[in-house]
Amino acid sequence: MKQFEVTIVSSGKTFKVNKGENILVAALRQGVMLPYSCKNGTCGSCKGKLESGEVRYPFHPPLALENEDIAEGFALMCQAEPVEDLEIRVREIEAVRDIQVRMFPARVVEKDLLADNVVRLRLKLPAAQRLQFLAGQYIDILVSGGKRRAFSIASCPSLENEIELHIRHVDGGDFTGYVFDELQVKDIMRLEGPQGNFFVRNDQPERPMIMMGGGTGFAPLKSMIENLLEHDDRREIHLYWGARSVAELYLDQLPRMWATRHDHIHYRNAVSEPDENAGAETFQGLVHEAVIADHDDLSGFDVYMSGPPAMIETARREFIEHGVPADRLFYDSFEFGLDVPVRVLAKPH
Ligand code: FES
Repeated sequence: MKQFEVTIVSSGKTFKVNKGENILVAALRQGVMLPYSCKNGTCGSCKGKLESGEVRYPFHPPLALENEDIAEGFALMCQAEPVEDLEIRVREIEAVRDIQVRMFPARVVEKDLLADNVVRLRLKLPAAQRLQFLAGQYIDILVSGGKRRAFSIASCPSLENEIELHIRHVDGGDFTGYVFDELQVKDIMRLEGPQGNFFVRNDQPERPMIMMGGGTGFAPLKSMIENLLEHDDRREIHLYWGARSVAELYLDQLPRMWATRHDHIHYRNAVSEPDENAGAETFQGLVHEAVIADHDDLSGFDVYMSGPPAMIETARREFIEHGVPADRLFYDSFEFGLDVPVRVLAKPH
């Protein structure tokens, strides 16, 4: 199939675009993050400048592109198809500050119980809306009284029009009680996001990763791993997931499947309470102890962890003692115990 090469002049990155394909789709498929929102030529978020080469628009000049824009060399990456090799000038998404935070409604399209105390919600955005986020980020659900509840996005960013959340029931928590007992499929929620600084760093892609989740802290790690797999990123991943019991590891089969299918993914689960259902390979104890039991020297790893503050705080201290450079330790810490799950920290430390 005929292909054209596109070079981003500011970064020197290049990627290939198939004949008849638009620039945005090709860039995202190859892991080059360009900004976008509507993907249908109406919002202008993906506008960039052609430094050399020509593009065509298959259906009509898109709405968000004035004639003067075209005359000045601007193009909409979500619509433009190269007809020759191109040099373009565009803003690349390299950090969360590059992504626009928006408020939008979403409809519950699926609600299922993954464990006695964990519900999975699938939420669909309105037809013309897309949510651009970095795998690992979270979203705020806006509730009455100006309050908000934060939940990590468990789905892969490529889904765009749909997001998945894993919600743990909190005893006495008004909001999670409402989600478990009253929220129905087809209900509408108001969301704001994406939020947070928890995402996979690409500045040292040769470093293997430890990913560690506690309870529903698995959610952002799932998004990260699915995104890495989608981009065929074969960095070594050592995933650890801990809970009180095996039953609380509500999607245990999924990381098992990743580990079976992909040589570069390793998975171990951990339970903190005696559990006769635990297999021989399950670590008995706290999940960070499982990491240290397997990797006494952590100096060569990037570490990503997500879960309750007590887990994060203990693990952070001990991992640093075991050699992780503090600036290669990234975490998302959230408080289950409160009705409002306050994000305590969401940044490298
Ligand atoms: Fe909206 Fe391209 S993403 S115009």
